[in-house]
Amino acid sequence: MPIRTSRHGPGRIRPSEITPKDVWLDRRTLLRNAGFGLAALAAPAAFWPRLAHARRKFDDLVKSKWTVDEEPTSLDDITSYNNFYEFGTGKGDPARYSGDFKPLPWSIRVGGECEKPGVIDYEDLIGSFGVEERVYRFRCVEAWSMIVPWAGIQLDRVLARFQPTSKAKYVAFETVYRPEEMRGQQRGFLDWPYVEGLRIDEAMHPLTLLAVGIYGEELPNQNGAPVRLVVPWKYGYKSIKSIVSITFTETEPPTTWNIQAPHEYGFYSNVNPERSHPRWSQARERRLGGGLFAKKIATLKFNGYEEEVGPLYAGMDLIRHH
Ligand code: MTE
Repeated sequence: MPIRTSRHGPGRIRPSEITPKDVWLDRRTLLRNAGFGLAALAAPAAFWPRLAHARRKFDDLVKSKWTVDEEPTSLDDITSYNNFYEFGTGKGDPARYSGDFKPLPWSIRVGGECEKPGVIDYEDLIGSFGVEERVYRFRCVEAWSMIVPWAGIQLDRVLARFQPTSKAKYVAFETVYRPEEMRGQQRGFLDWPYVEGLRIDEAMHPLTLLAVGIYGEELPNQNGAPVRLVVPWKYGYKSIKSIVSITFTETEPPTTWNIQAPHEYGFYSNVNPERSHPRWSQARERRLGGGLFAKKIATLKFNGYEEEVGPLYAGMDLIRHH
């Protein structure tokens, strides 16, 4: 199981480690210097929001031990091939149409079965809990995958502040509803707002992350700015973006894709090569960045995190509880 402590141990990330991003920066500078401002407007979707706003860098980013020893996917690929239906259903739509979304200021309401319901502000979140870098595998149900250097906060630390009661068996999450900034929400692709849920032990597992950045900087809008969930052993759709509400519940909360197509998407949605999906093989996956004709690789049970999360499901039939 290739989870490891960072090659360089805990500490700051050296700029030399962020090669794919440097390549991207060079390309941007080249384009600008060459006077390609207008060309960028007609260029692939990925260019739009990056030119639109600056994102804060996280200084003193500590490297977490929860990091896989694999080459990260380039920032270009991570930010230009997205699923974020609030901005449209095409893979380029989130990058193309999320430029007007205003992620800050931001706060998240936390309530339900807990002793101290309340609101947590974004600045409080990143200031109080400490942001770490964690390089995770991330796999979409559509059979593509990537390696993402997230910046984030372990979710259990945040949840503990609100003191869940013994009745808190699940945690429900909700995405912001702003049809005026999110053009997809003006249409009925999905039942808005997007909602997701985890069992409490899944939410409290140390791998579960509230991500606030990638490649050492705040999240681009298309990746779920300013705060999104990352649950690396589950299919990507469980990793809900632009979260405004977290609720502790006694019963299993509804989830968007299960409401949409219950025969295709269950509550658990653990990456499982043994359970096929009617439209995409779950046995193999294509790494973003390798080109359309790159050889597919085998999908690992729980996305390779079996040692860490297997015990959460001991004795459960994961075909039935998919
Ligand atoms: N969250 C919201 N609010 N809306 C979405 O459409 N798509 C999900 C998930 N979170 C989605 C969402 C799906 S299907 C995937 S695969 C991942 O986000 C994609 O994350 P990425 O674009 O950062 O790769």
